[in-house]
Amino acid sequence: MTNTDTRFDGDSWDLATSVGATATAVAASRAIASQGPDALLDDRFAEPLVRAVGIQHFVDLIEGRVGTDDPVLNRRAMSEQMTVRTRFFDDFFTAATEAGIRQAVILAAGLDTRAYRLPWPTGTTVFELDQPEVITFKSNTLAELGAEPSAQRRTVAIDLRDDWPAALTAAGFDASRPTAWIAEGLLIYLPPAAQDKLLDDVTALSAPGSRIATEQMDMSSLPDDWADKLTERSRRIGSSINLADLFYAGERNTAADYLAAKGWRTELLTTEQAFAAQGFRPDDEMLAFEGSNSGYLAATLT
Ligand SMILES: C[S@@+](CC[C@H](N)C(=O)[O-])C[C@H]1O[C@@H](n2cnc3c(N)ncnc32)[C@H](O)[C@@H]1O
Repeated sequence: MTNTDTRFDGDSWDLATSVGATATAVAASRAIASQGPDALLDDRFAEPLVRAVGIQHFVDLIEGRVGTDDPVLNRRAMSEQMTVRTRFFDDFFTAATEAGIRQAVILAAGLDTRAYRLPWPTGTTVFELDQPEVITFKSNTLAELGAEPSAQRRTVAIDLRDDWPAALTAAGFDASRPTAWIAEGLLIYLPPAAQDKLLDDVTALSAPGSRIATEQMDMSSLPDDWADKLTERSRRIGSSINLADLFYAGERNTAADYLAAKGWRTELLTTEQAFAAQGFRPDDEMLAFEGSNSGYLAATLT
């Protein structure tokens, strides 16, 4: 099946269905990486959030009832992979605030808890955007847990294929101030034209000195069946999410090329470099199909 069977303009979801379930999947990995005395991450909200969503497979996964001995998908390997990703975006925000930026935007926030767990400087505003049911569920669940944001948190419940700049502005976003943006685990769930439009909108809303971080997929070196390969990997740990159905897997601009053409100075940390920065090594299976120019991208508007 291809995504044309399951994805369509205006489709929507909660955290247990369609693209929403992928937010729960990555939060489950953060929960696992945050467990035990040798925890690699400290996301104490990930586990209660995943439990509250209630997808049985992910609850079983964090409780250690399911899992695999597969060399690339065991608990340690999954934890390392999620740690590399989480720390990249954490460090990006830390560097941005150290440089004086006090406005952050998390595009497609899902179950991201950075607005609650990062040590934001006083006076920082963090905007979170995602689909309405995702935003409402996370806000309510964290409030029930007694969690307090560590910044001024403002939510924007909207589809990122719609006029989100207007909604963000209505929520108090100030385009005259430099902003740190992240789009973590988002771009591949947008149609290619919507990805370009999103990056156009981010550029239009960014004062000089603004920064953005996202993943970089080097489409030219991916095999044709990369989406199926990723689905097969997640199936090995028992996930029932068919990623290939949810991705828009056709030709698209790479984020780095697109942003560079819009005046952003881009810096790529390849997957191998990002793992090495944390003292880990990516598995050969991932390296083999990602190619050498995929990884994590940070860019500054000059
Ligand atoms: C893989 S999850 C990543 C969530 C979060 N950034 C993280 O890394 O934990 C993908 C997220 O993108 C959001 N998303 C995808 N397409 C979207 C759209 N068109 N509008 C709003 N949110 C979208 C989903 O709701 C989901 O929360």
